[in-house]
Amino acid sequence: MIQDQYGRSIHYLRISLTDQCNLRCVYCMPEDMSFRPSSALLQDRELIRLARIFAELGFDKFRLTGGEPTIRHNVTELVQQLAALPGVREIAMTTNGILLKHLAQPLADAGLHRLNISIDSLNPKTFRRLTRWGNVDDVLAGINAAEAAGFPIKLNTVVVRDVNDKEDIVQLARLTLDHPWQVRFIEMMPLGRISDFQLSHIVTEDELRANIEAALGPLTLQNEGQLDGEARIFKLKGAKGALGFISSVTKPFCAACNRARLTADGKLRLCLLRDKEMDLMSLLRGGATDEELKAHIEKSIWYKPWGHGLAERAYPTHRVMSEIGG
Ligand code: 5AD
Ligand code: SF4
Repeated sequence: MIQDQYGRSIHYLRISLTDQCNLRCVYCMPEDMSFRPSSALLQDRELIRLARIFAELGFDKFRLTGGEPTIRHNVTELVQQLAALPGVREIAMTTNGILLKHLAQPLADAGLHRLNISIDSLNPKTFRRLTRWGNVDDVLAGINAAEAAGFPIKLNTVVVRDVNDKEDIVQLARLTLDHPWQVRFIEMMPLGRISDFQLSHIVTEDELRANIEAALGPLTLQNEGQLDGEARIFKLKGAKGALGFISSVTKPFCAACNRARLTADGKLRLCLLRDKEMDLMSLLRGGATDEELKAHIEKSIWYKPWGHGLAERAYPTHRVMSEIGG
């Protein structure tokens, strides 16, 4: 397994399958976003080759992201091929759920283990305001299909001040009373040219928890505060499910970071919140051998940045979130 210079084992790769999306969430991309031509993206064979190389370097968990991963042509075939790579223990996906009604079962059959579904509000109007054109009923149908296909349900909600930080959040938290689901609230992170909006609409975990407790009663910390992935877990009294808080801005988990990211255009991104990337695509298309690619990956991971610079007001500027995949 590969380590960085700080002794962190890096074995979780988030793979962005496309920079395109069927939604336009206000906290993720600007309204006039333009997308890369598909020739600039890793083709299926290139992607599988890189994934195999990462698996040979000890990466045992892949998460497929976007943009929106389910709009990638052949997504189920890709999952099948990734799941078949020796050494791969877990394949997960983060999706907006819009297309899951028809894709959840085929993805399960292809070998996908886990799904995280983004939903920022149960209220159709708020949902539309945040996604610019989405229909929340599509996501709810997707969640049902995911449950029917046997996936454990984890929902992701990005919290935006004065849009979904009050009743919407309480409604989402209330879902955990009757459903064995994990509902996770994410502190909005600043990236790219929409960072002014993001910074001015952040709601911190502490504030959000206080809002939820005021409405639904005390939350009990689970697992002695140990993180589940990147989330700290709490429960409402008598709840079947749990609440998670992903607080990268106010409670960064950089010391426990075990991940790297492969962008859809073939760059190895070492930290979500740092612009530093290594251009695997040029090496790949320039004819590099497996051994050369491995050496470059190992060297880049060694220099993975220690932590993000949000506290010092250092924000990544080169990409918005949809071009990385969270
Ligand atoms: N801050 C935090 N999370 C974000 N996401 C998109 N943009 C942001 C942001 N600015 C989340 C989505 C999804 C995942 C891909 O990233 O809601 O869960
Ligand atoms: Fe698409 Fe997800 Fe970004 Fe929304 S948050 S625009 S669904 S990639």
